[in-house]
Amino acid sequence: MGEEVDRSDAQAAVGARSAVSFSLCSFSVPPKRFAAGGTLDNRTHEQHMRRALELAARATFAAPNPKVGSVLVREGEVIGEGHHAGTGHPHAEIVALSAARESAGATAYVTLEPCTHHGRTPPCAPALIEAGIARVVVAMQDPDLRVGGRGLAQLAEAGVEVITGVLEDEARALNRTYIHHRRTGRPFVSLKLALSLDGRLAAPDGSARWITGPGARREAHRRRSEADAVVVGSGTALADDPSLTVRDFPAVRQPARVLVDSSGRTPAGARLFGGGEVVVVTTDACSHDVQTAWKETGAEVLVLPRSADGVDLVAMLDALGQRDWLELYVEAGGQLATSLLRADLVDRLDIHHGPVLLGRGGPEIGELAVAAIHDARRWRLLGAEAVDDDVLMSYERNS
Ligand SMILES: NC(=O)c1ccc[n+]([C@@H]2O[C@H](COP(=O)([O-])OP(=O)(O)OC[C@H]3O[C@@H](n4cnc5c(N)ncnc54)[C@H](OP(=O)(O)O)[C@@H]3O)[C@@H](O)[C@H]2O)c1
Repeated sequence: MGEEVDRSDAQAAVGARSAVSFSLCSFSVPPKRFAAGGTLDNRTHEQHMRRALELAARATFAAPNPKVGSVLVREGEVIGEGHHAGTGHPHAEIVALSAARESAGATAYVTLEPCTHHGRTPPCAPALIEAGIARVVVAMQDPDLRVGGRGLAQLAEAGVEVITGVLEDEARALNRTYIHHRRTGRPFVSLKLALSLDGRLAAPDGSARWITGPGARREAHRRRSEADAVVVGSGTALADDPSLTVRDFPAVRQPARVLVDSSGRTPAGARLFGGGEVVVVTTDACSHDVQTAWKETGAEVLVLPRSADGVDLVAMLDALGQRDWLELYVEAGGQLATSLLRADLVDRLDIHHGPVLLGRGGPEIGELAVAAIHDARRWRLLGAEAVDDDVLMSYERNS
């Protein structure tokens, strides 16, 4: 089973981007922890934080940054709102401060701890202090080791009242890919499987188009648009020749495409090489000629260690995590899907059940090292929806 990476391992990945010390911050003035309960104050905090979360969710793609929303309230009145629209755009707190005419004495609701480090934009905690904000209410502490409590400590030391933990579960769910990346140094792996009612990935002749209908495919394109990269194995590239772009959904950007091909079976003329960012993950079993042909299409080639099944997938996730990618949307066939599941590297399952029975002989999920029912991982249902005649279900790992 794939081992969980702890913070110290993740620091190696994050360390490439940051020279700060990695110890989490200690507080001389500890923030107040929100204690849920039906008081008027608590209901007010939850109401404004809910609005801040709604604003945060407006960004369909903010990676490598988290999705953040902010609401400024003074004397019971909302005086400014904002969200972070993605890399290079101002942070949510700054947008909210700019929208307000006079913020001195106000309360700032922020879905994530304000930052203290200079990235592409100036830090937010000093900006809140300078604006005279009296109280900052946050949903969750930032797991990024460059922040890690420093934002809350800086605010508290400047005399700002700090309350944490308001709607924390909701905030964590919104940024689950960001939290996973900052905790492990690897991208969050979402595996999408279009399955027949009897669990087949394709018919016996390998044809899989289409198990599900247009509505389910549109949802898959929506999910592609949220991910940093869409991933397939060489088996799918050869069988289906997919382009892996977002077409059925309005996308602010195209995700990168990742081909996992350990031996160089996929020709450079395959559709997925057409434009945009393409990364081929391979091993030294792939000839230099094939690697050169891939590179000539503009693709980047990563030569990684081998495993019994092809590419070492842990090495692949480590390498892709170092690119600051938060989420991979894997649309592979049975072999790559099985390898990822068997190594316990899948964080979310998007199962799309189409209304067909395909019988014996078609590809399916293979050996998962489950001998008895108690060996099987149990998944937590995130949501289920009927779309046309298909049923779309999403599951997340429990731990
Ligand atoms: N229903 C669906 O959701 C769905 C989705 C995709 C595909 N499909 C269908 O699935 C079939 C293709 O299945 P597939 O299993 O061949 O496709 P795949 O899982 O996308 O690709 C498998 C190939 O990936 C390469 N690979 C490299 N490293 C690997 C590793 N660590 N573990 C596993 N594989 C690794 C191997 O080829 P190398 O030796 O070249 O490295 C392997 O043969 C087609 O019929 C396609 O239509 C169905």
